Amino acid sequence: MCGWVHRKRNHGGIIFIDLRDYTGLVQIVFDPNDIKIYKIAKIIRNEFCLQIIGKVCSRPNKTNNTNLISGNIEILCRELKILNSSITLPFQIDEKNILEVTNLKYRVLYLRYKHMQKNLRLRYKVTMEVRKFLDSKKFIEIETPILSKSTPEGARDYLVPSRINPGEFFALPQSPQLFKQLLMVANFDRYYQITKCFRDEDLRSDRQPEFTQIDCETSFMNEEEIRNLFEEMIRVIFYKTLNIKLPNPFPVIEWSTAIKLYGSDKPDMCIKLIFTDLTNIMKDSDFKLFSKIANMKNGRIIGLKIPGGFSISRNEINYYTQFVKTYGAKGLTYIKIHKISKEFDGLKSPIIKYFNNLILEKIINKTEAQNGDIIFLGGDEKNIVNNFMSALRIKIGYSDFGKRNNILNNKWHPLWVINFPMFKYDKINNNWIARHHPFTAPKDGYEDFIITNPEKIFSKAYDLIINGWEIGGGSIRIHDAEIQKKIFKVLNIDNKIVKTQFGFLLNSLKYGAPPHGGIAFGLDRLITIMTGSKSIRDVIAFPKTQSAQCLLTNAPSIVDEKQLNELNILYKKTKN
Ligand code: AMO
Repeated sequence: MCGWVHRKRNHGGIIFIDLRDYTGLVQIVFDPNDIKIYKIAKIIRNEFCLQIIGKVCSRPNKTNNTNLISGNIEILCRELKILNSSITLPFQIDEKNILEVTNLKYRVLYLRYKHMQKNLRLRYKVTMEVRKFLDSKKFIEIETPILSKSTPEGARDYLVPSRINPGEFFALPQSPQLFKQLLMVANFDRYYQITKCFRDEDLRSDRQPEFTQIDCETSFMNEEEIRNLFEEMIRVIFYKTLNIKLPNPFPVIEWSTAIKLYGSDKPDMCIKLIFTDLTNIMKDSDFKLFSKIANMKNGRIIGLKIPGGFSISRNEINYYTQFVKTYGAKGLTYIKIHKISKEFDGLKSPIIKYFNNLILEKIINKTEAQNGDIIFLGGDEKNIVNNFMSALRIKIGYSDFGKRNNILNNKWHPLWVINFPMFKYDKINNNWIARHHPFTAPKDGYEDFIITNPEKIFSKAYDLIINGWEIGGGSIRIHDAEIQKKIFKVLNIDNKIVKTQFGFLLNSLKYGAPPHGGIAFGLDRLITIMTGSKSIRDVIAFPKTQSAQCLLTNAPSIVDEKQLNELNILYKKTKN
């Protein structure tokens, strides 16, 4: 056997070692009577790399270790070779609560942890199943360039200077979007690629500057056919690698319904709570704060009923109020329902005095509240209130209260979100931006209104959400150059830029481009949820920090003047 020393113990002169490889641990025994080997065994320390030949024996009576698969046996060492020693470790392998900076710096050691071995091996199995599945459906893998032109997916580009074309830069692909579309025009009508994408954007626990997509594209298929094919792929992956049966078919929800009921376009369906829209009811209330919002063009009042929530304490309510403030709320209020009666005197709320009985009756009826419930109420501009009430829904869902009261159904809940609006308005830049990417096709019948009524256009886009994580997104694409030009116009992209940036796409579309569409899955996110990891960094061998640095190699780093000169780069020096 070859492996690493996990732990070493000395019991009454006999040396025991737990030898570790990726399959687990096995106990090695060194008998003091075997003087030559025992002498070597004495100098062994944790994480030495060993080769051992020995005799597999049953463990003596009552020394079995039921926590180990190999717990009924041990190996009596007959030959021992130290393949390499190890210097003192910064932490013991499998020690808990290591700071992330430490585990990123000593990544090699952290990768030896059991859960990291499990995560990366599952990642490998998933990609194998993806390849097998797509191969069986006649997809072929084609590589697309990494040194390329900007592919707008909403983030900043990582740029690479070209030495032989001074002053010119490649952009690393934010996705292979445009190349996969060109492959459709070129008659590779079922393409996939498991590939790196690069996005310079604000990082969170579900984002990395370089991440991996399972990127797919097909010709001649419609939205539903594409969704059906790829949800089958996800079902197969879960079944083959985790023995989990996902629902068949996956539920489908319209974007507008998702926003209405959950305030989010990636609702976590593990949580059995929905919003009730109280905007209309509040229009006539004497609670001026709410009636003002309810009468605004863009205002919304949301009721979030929590069954059994009467028991939520004052302190917890204060905590939730502070929590929603971090999501932009100005406040949060509530109605606790002790007992519903004609006079509504069994309700407790700081704002109840502003509501007459008719309004109270409407609130109770619309939320379908029962004795013992609480209704949280939030109001603001739509985007703001959706955001903080959706965060509250998740917070309560995953709280101890949520778990105890069966609000959390912690199984697997895949969900397609469809019928997205095509554009959203960017108030800061006074501009329309594409909700997915600019190559997404509008729904049929909308083509003539793209320029005149961009706010009314819906797209043929779909996202796959699993337990609140956006795992994949795709769409039917525009295959008509004229429609593509209209979209660029709405996005206010100058004709000159359209020509230089996207001329190759528009030209290619003119050579009989077939109708086509596809999807890309975030492999890192998929593995994160499949392994139950907290962070995407736990399923990537060598990830970057939240500030896009690699602590292992200390990248990015300064390069020497000579290299910069060769690249014709002068840069502004900032003080350290
Ligand atoms: P989109 O931008 O939605 O679509 O990306 C597809 C999927 O990739 C994952 N993802 C990320 N994972 C980790 N870190 C990131 N920074 C990151 N950004 C995205 C998500 C997401 O759902 N070209 C289109 C796809 C298409 O239309 O076919 C695209 O890239 O899981």
